Amino acid sequence: MKKKIVIAGGARPNFIKIVPLIREFKRYKKHFDVLFVHTGQHYDFTMSEIFFQDLCIPKPDVFLNAGSSSHAIQTAKIMMGFERVLIKEKPDLIVVVGDVNSTLACSLVASKLNIKIAHVESGLRSFDKTMPEEINRIVTDSLSDYLFVTEKSGMENLKKEGIDKKKIFFVGNVMIDTLLLNMRKIDKSDILKQFSLRPDSYGVLTLHRPSNVDTEDSFLEIYAILKSLLGKIRIIYPVHPRSMRMMRSYGILGKFKKLNNLCMTKPLGYVDFIKLIKKSSFVLTDSGGIQEEAAFMRTSCLTLRENTERPATLKGTNYLVGRNKDKILRHVKNILNGKIKDGKIPELWDGKAARRIAKILI
Ligand code: UD1
Ligand code: UDP
Repeated sequence: MKKKIVIAGGARPNFIKIVPLIREFKRYKKHFDVLFVHTGQHYDFTMSEIFFQDLCIPKPDVFLNAGSSSHAIQTAKIMMGFERVLIKEKPDLIVVVGDVNSTLACSLVASKLNIKIAHVESGLRSFDKTMPEEINRIVTDSLSDYLFVTEKSGMENLKKEGIDKKKIFFVGNVMIDTLLLNMRKIDKSDILKQFSLRPDSYGVLTLHRPSNVDTEDSFLEIYAILKSLLGKIRIIYPVHPRSMRMMRSYGILGKFKKLNNLCMTKPLGYVDFIKLIKKSSFVLTDSGGIQEEAAFMRTSCLTLRENTERPATLKGTNYLVGRNKDKILRHVKNILNGKIKDGKIPELWDGKAARRIAKILI
C-alpha cells in the first residue's frame, strides 16, 4: 500500500535540501504520496520563492504563513498550523530537514500525534547550546524514528546519546545531491559578468548567526576585519535579512555601504550564489550549509565561528577562524599566495543521498 509522506520545511536551507527528496519520492510514486508543507518561516522573495523558481520545486501544497517572531511565538505558530494539517492528512510519516525552528516545531507536533518522523541531516552537534540550532537538533533527533546522517561524526554523536542504532542510517548529504543535480545550470550562470568579476579574484561573505550579528560589538568586529581585507581583495556580500535588520538598528549600515571594494547585494538565488562560491578565492561565512558546499567544491572557507557541527569539512577546505582578525588575515594571505589546503571530500557525498533515503523508507 502507498505511504503518505508530509515533507515540512520553511527556511532557505530547507528548500535546498528538499529538492532531491521530492525528486526521489516522485520517482518511487508507486510507494509514496507526497505533500509539501511550507511553514512560512522565511517569506521574502529572495529567501523563499526564488528557490522554487531556480530549483523547479513544485508549489507547496500547504502554506502556514508563520512568519518571523520570537522563538516561542514562531515555533508555536508553526505547531498550530502543522497540527491542523496532520490531523486532516493523517500521514504515515513526516520528513524534516536541518536544524531550524520549522524542523523542531513540526517534529514536536508529529510526535504528539504518534506519526513517525524522519530527520534528514541528523546527528550534527556543535556542543554549543547557545546556538538555537543545537537545541533544535537534539530535540528533533530524540523524537525521530529514522535518523539520516550526513557525516561520520553524526553516527558517533547519536550513539553516544543512546539512540537505538537500528534507527540510524549513514546516507550522505542531500545538499550535495542538489549541488550535483544543478551543476550544469550553475556553470552557465553569468553572475560573475553581472558583478564584473574574474574567477579567483574576489571573496564572498555571508553572515546571519546571532553570535555575529545580534550585538553591535560583534558586528563592528567584523567591520574591522573587512576593512583590513578589502585593501587586498574585493568582497561580495549578499546580505541576509536578519543582518540587514541588525545593521539598520545599530545605525551602522551606512558605514558598511561606504567600504571600498565591498559589494553589498540582496540574497542571491541558489544557482548564482553557488557559481559565485565556486569561482571565488575564498568564502567568509557563518553558514552551516555553505561550509559543506565550499568543502565539496574545494573552495577555501573561513568560518566565522568558534565551533562547527560539521567537522568533516575541517578535513576539507574549511577553517574555523571565529572573529580573530590576525588569523583571518594570515589565512587570506596564504590563500592569495596559492597555499591552499588539499581538500578531502567526506564519504558518501556523491549525489545519491536522497536515493538511499527513499530506498530505506521503502
Ligand atoms: C534561520 C534559522 C537558522 C538558519 C537560517 C538560514 C532558526 C532558529 N534559525 O535563521 O538556523 O541558519 O534561518 O537562513 O530557525 N527575515 C526577513 N525575511 C524573511 C525571513 C526573515 O526579513 O523572509 C528577518 C526577520 O526580521 C526575522 C529575522 O530575519 O526576524 C530572522 O529570521 P528567522 O527565521 O527567525 O531566523 P534566521 O536568522 O533567518
Ligand atoms: N544561499 C543562497 N543564496 C545566498 C546565500 C546562501 O542560495 O545569498 C544558499 C547556500 O548556497 C546554501 C544555503 O543557502 O545552500 C545556506 O543557507 P543559510 O546560510 O541561510 O543557512 P544555514 O545553512 O546556515 O542553516
